Amino acid sequence: MKEIRLRYAEEKDLDDMAIWFADEEVMYWSSGSHGETLFTREQLAERLATMNSLHSGRWWMIDVNEGAKGWRAIGRVTFRNYEPVVHAVTIGITIGNKEYWGQGYGSKAIRAFVDLLFRRYNLHRIQLDTFQDNIRAIRAYEKCGFKQEGKLRQSFWTTKGYQDRVIMGILRSDWERKQE
Ligand SMILES: CC(C)(COP(=O)(O)OP(=O)(O)OC[C@H]1O[C@@H](n2cnc3c(N)ncnc32)[C@H](O)[C@@H]1OP(=O)(O)O)[C@@H](O)C(=O)NCCC(=O)NCCS
Repeated sequence: MKEIRLRYAEEKDLDDMAIWFADEEVMYWSSGSHGETLFTREQLAERLATMNSLHSGRWWMIDVNEGAKGWRAIGRVTFRNYEPVVHAVTIGITIGNKEYWGQGYGSKAIRAFVDLLFRRYNLHRIQLDTFQDNIRAIRAYEKCGFKQEGKLRQSFWTTKGYQDRVIMGILRSDWERKQE
């Protein structure tokens, strides 16, 4: 598998992101693909320009090392909803370049992001949610140490109808055990 790196999203990434987030298949798996989740380049640019603090969350690009061709962005990881008392955040991941699905790049990026967040932000807990049909995502998160913690029945609306929301989380203690 090729090397990956995470870096802050920049303006030059907007063209890639605009393609990924206008793709109905990518957006279905990312967030159920209802109309409000399809972003234009202008909407992405506005979000990027205003995100600087921990509280508003940040976007990191996932780059793959393509050797002589250099680094190529294949997706994005994000966090949101920083809870200062609990020291928790909610994360999300989208590999927007579909050629890279199912080859371990998502798990590799999730591991790198979890390491970065626990080390840099002194977090106690990282959580996320997805919907019941997204088995590939659930499996990728489990491989990285996330546990399924519960379900909110039919709380996710998708173009295939209502689905259960699967809540997953990893604690600092789970992560520390994996470092040993
Ligand atoms: C979800 C996502 C990040 C996962 O990354 P990935 O690189 O595709 O996944 P990985 O190859 O690292 O791991 C996927 C695992 O799921 C397994 N899997 C995939 N489809 C499966 C299925 N239908 N049933 C059972 N297991 C399945 C794979 O075999 C693999 O597990 P293994 O390594 O033990 O064999 C990526 O596919 C993606 O961005 N998808 C689109 C957006 C999305 O779903 N985002 C997450 C929203 S919460």
